Amino acid sequence: MITVFGSLNVDYVFQVAHLPTPGETVLATDMVILPGGKGGNQALAAAKAGAEVRMVGAVGEDGLRNIVLTELQAAGVDTQCVKTSTRSTGTAAINVDNHGENAIAVYPGANYDVSAEQLTSEILQPGSFLLMQMELPLSVMATAMRIAAKAKASIIWNLAPMQPIELDLLQQIDYLIVNEVELTQLVSNLGGDPATETVTKARYAASKSKARIIVTLGAKGCLAIDGDQQISVPALPIKPIDTVGAGDAFAGAFSAALASAKTLDQAIVWGCVAGGLACLQTGAQSALPSASQITERVPELAATSN
Ligand code: RIB
Repeated sequence: MITVFGSLNVDYVFQVAHLPTPGETVLATDMVILPGGKGGNQALAAAKAGAEVRMVGAVGEDGLRNIVLTELQAAGVDTQCVKTSTRSTGTAAINVDNHGENAIAVYPGANYDVSAEQLTSEILQPGSFLLMQMELPLSVMATAMRIAAKAKASIIWNLAPMQPIELDLLQQIDYLIVNEVELTQLVSNLGGDPATETVTKARYAASKSKARIIVTLGAKGCLAIDGDQQISVPALPIKPIDTVGAGDAFAGAFSAALASAKTLDQAIVWGCVAGGLACLQTGAQSALPSASQITERVPELAATSN
């Protein structure tokens, strides 16, 4: 079982010729309203990849709650532990340009009412997984980690969007997922040299933690550090339409693979396939692949270790 402790947002996605620069207004050519939030996206990605998933989070008592919950429930995600807040459901303003690049602003709303008390001992069992991102208050996630560690659940943490974190939190997690920007921020935050090569920064982060460090590299695939071992996996050869949620697709499918007892190498391949396929349609949840769609493309990507 994977418990996702994270955010639920409604995404307002604007298609623009280029991302607005400071002070600039651009006219969008299209706008869609879609379910999102890094927590919701990763929960759906994991469920579609075949995992048993529970979502723990919060929504407002408003018309937006159904937008974020309907897809999750249809995919079999248990949403009984999603509470109702007096604040409005979280929202995100997302600009996507003609190259599939994006810029996102999030209003957390109800997500900032999520509490670690929602994670009861019946929820986190030994051998289960707690999957988190960075769109809940840091103090709440810190408490969640302590509860998960005590329950002997494995902790997967996607540091997105990056916030400065204390070393003791880093030392509690089992798998850390970051992109290159987040890795650089993390290394700088920990007192390391942000100007070094990606692999050096990943090794530095690994030296500060017991976690396997997984660095998503977009079109270059993924690099991971597991103790002394370095693992590399290429990306699927695709022409991206919308990269929003690609990192969430990676984290969800990666977690689903681990929960089904796949090796770290295999889980990274699953993440890379899902991340690539998720870029082929507009929206964070629209293109999340099923387990069979992932399985079909897995043979195209081989992990190399040294
Ligand atoms: O990772 C993409 C997600 O980030 C969007 O769905 C948006 O809601 C923000 O949380």
